[in-house]
Amino acid sequence: MEHLLAALRAVAEATRLRLVVLCARGELTVSELTHILGQSQPRVSRHLKLLCEAGLLDRFREGSWVFYRLSQSDPASTLARQLVAACDETDPTIGLDLQRLNAIKRQRAEAAGTYFRENAAQWHRIRSLYVDEREVEAALVEIISTADPRDLLDIGTGTGRVLEVLAPQVQNALGIDQSREMLSIARVNLERAGLDNASVRLGDMYQLALPDASFDAVVIHQVLHYADRPATAIAEAARTLRPDGILVLVDFAPHALEFLRDEHAHRRLLPGYPLTVVIWTAHRPAAASRFAQGSRVATTGALVTGEVH
Ligand SMILES: C[S@@+](CC[C@H](N)C(=O)[O-])C[C@H]1O[C@@H](n2cnc3c(N)ncnc32)[C@H](O)[C@@H]1O
Repeated sequence: MEHLLAALRAVAEATRLRLVVLCARGELTVSELTHILGQSQPRVSRHLKLLCEAGLLDRFREGSWVFYRLSQSDPASTLARQLVAACDETDPTIGLDLQRLNAIKRQRAEAAGTYFRENAAQWHRIRSLYVDEREVEAALVEIISTADPRDLLDIGTGTGRVLEVLAPQVQNALGIDQSREMLSIARVNLERAGLDNASVRLGDMYQLALPDASFDAVVIHQVLHYADRPATAIAEAARTLRPDGILVLVDFAPHALEFLRDEHAHRRLLPGYPLTVVIWTAHRPAAASRFAQGSRVATTGALVTGEVH
């Protein structure tokens, strides 16, 4: 009850209510929020601090940037969502805030689009070498809907495509990537798809800043062929899995296309042709209660459960 009263007190102020409404519509930086509200940065920062302390907003750092979004943890999260739902979008102040927010989202989308266009030709060439993505995505949806996880982690999320496909199957989906440009594109894509249960964070797959046993499903889609230490990345992914959790790896079967190593930084090639996409799944044993460093999932060798030519 104390928590709830603190949250109610924190939000009972016009600027703070506006901030909650804005942060319900995406992850925003202080400077974006300052621009929308037309107030000084110290003032906005002070309001944000109060809202975070009351549990209504989450704050997270990404390199030198700090983002705010609606809290993901109850009871303040439920309260925040109810308050946002009760706010009238035709109210002149809220309406103007949302207009400015949309302008910022458009700018972000343009910046991300420019980056994407510059790299799209390369990606297109690679994608044309293998199976229709839709087949892989359908197989992934089947695997994840059967496993029925609550929390899903997508490592090396890139433009967030796997999150777009799988977030509707889960309660919470988090994507990690080391590229800020990719994350900008992912944010635009997730917002466009209206997936407010999915978010992305800057992070390194070799050293995830995530607790042990915090996800029911972990996906690594088309990332490991870039890895110089794939076993370390897999062990790190396994560490974050809950007992009974599922690890899904999607990558190319061994192949011999040398140009992929020269031109696209692929690290691991073996003989074989043409490019084949393989989906490997592994389960963490339900009985596992401790997660030592480098602990393993149930299968030591990868178990091939689905292969798409
Ligand atoms: C080919 S993209 C795949 C993106 C996405 N999984 C998909 O299939 O659409 C590989 C992604 O892995 C990310 N990546 C590479 N090394 C990483 C690392 N050490 N930690 C986190 N992400 C990494 C890259 O930034 C890139 O976005």
